[in-house]
Amino acid sequence: MKKVAVVWSSPNKDGLTASAKNSFIEGLTESGVSIEEIHLNSRKLEHCRACGNGWGTCNKNGSCLIGDDFADIYKTLSEADGIVWISAVYWSDMTECFKAFFDRLRRCDATHNHFLAEKRCMLIACAGGTGRGTIECLQQLERGLTHMGMRAYDRIPVVRFNRDYMLPALKEAGKTYANALENGFDMYY
Ligand SMILES: Cc1cc2nc3c(=O)[nH]c(=O)nc-3n(C[C@H](O)[C@H](O)[C@H](O)COP(=O)(O)O)c2cc1C
Repeated sequence: MKKVAVVWSSPNKDGLTASAKNSFIEGLTESGVSIEEIHLNSRKLEHCRACGNGWGTCNKNGSCLIGDDFADIYKTLSEADGIVWISAVYWSDMTECFKAFFDRLRRCDATHNHFLAEKRCMLIACAGGTGRGTIECLQQLERGLTHMGMRAYDRIPVVRFNRDYMLPALKEAGKTYANALENGFDMYY
């Protein structure tokens, strides 16, 4: 059975981001994959201290010296066949909480471990305000993924105005992603 890690960030457990996450998970569940949900805002996660001279243990041995939930989440992601990244849109970007985690992950994985390289991912950005910045948020997410050698299978913008038709679409997206994990991704890179 394929394992999918669903990483999401919003302080609201019943907002737009959570609804998007739930719809995608419904599609995954119907397709019979095993799901590990990681709600970053509920976990203990500090931001990078840029220890040493800027490069610390991340660069030297692929681990972070901060003793919080980072290592545990990183292990889950490394063991997953697929990763779904979902963030609320803040300032046309991922949430601060998401960014803090992503920054540390990139340091360890891109420079030393490469455990995440070549994983095919889904990117979902959820904007509850004007909707401005949704595409920029997806771009920022993909930029981080690219540094780590991961690949975006799709990039999905959810705004409060498209909620009614995007939530059912997200369920279908979950099924399509599960199917691709099982049978192969039709991608050239
Ligand atoms: C600090 C902050 C910055 C935000 N920036 C944006 C933005 O750039 N564009 C937008 O459409 N909404 C923005 N919003 C609104 C969030 O996207 C909104 O809270 C959204 O619903 C997040 O999903 P949620 O329902 O899970 O909280 C911002 C909200 C906060 C708290």
